[in-house]
Amino acid sequence: MAESAKNPLVSVIMGSASDWDIMSSAVKVLEEFNIPYEARVLSAHRTPDVLREYVKFAEERGVEVFITGAGMAAALPGVVASCTVLPVLGVPVPSGSLNGVDALYSIVQMPPGIPVGCLAIGKPGATNAGLLAVAILSLKRQELREKLIAYREKQAKKVLEANLPESG
Ligand code: RP5
Repeated sequence: MAESAKNPLVSVIMGSASDWDIMSSAVKVLEEFNIPYEARVLSAHRTPDVLREYVKFAEERGVEVFITGAGMAAALPGVVASCTVLPVLGVPVPSGSLNGVDALYSIVQMPPGIPVGCLAIGKPGATNAGLLAVAILSLKRQELREKLIAYREKQAKKVLEANLPESG
């Protein structure tokens, strides 16, 4: 499991250790951009009181964005959002027999008033949650904004330089 920073700017919370394979994609992005983060396993259903306490405490410690990931009846992102006014991003984890569609519906269908920014199912969503957290933090950090622009440019270059194999 990932190392925790002393003063994390991003908190990555997942409902189960079994979500790590997916949620580590978000952490990889944070590490690439040198963002201090901490990753925790806390469940909306199995550890509700500890989860609420943790979210409040994380905010006091300087966390600015929450990335949350859960599978099945994924209540975690919504519960985190109910405890804070900070931005909460939600990643549906494909862990149940419905392959993440269950979690997608849970996370994307928040009632009005308590928003969660829902990303795509699985690793692509976790990667984009990391990038969105970077974008949120870069609103007030010019150096980070420049890194994000460079990341996009590198990505565009890769697409434009792509070679296709011979047909037939
Ligand atoms: C959810 O239930 C977790 O987020 C996980 O995706 C799913 C299954 O959890 P485990 O039974 O693997 O701990 O709460």
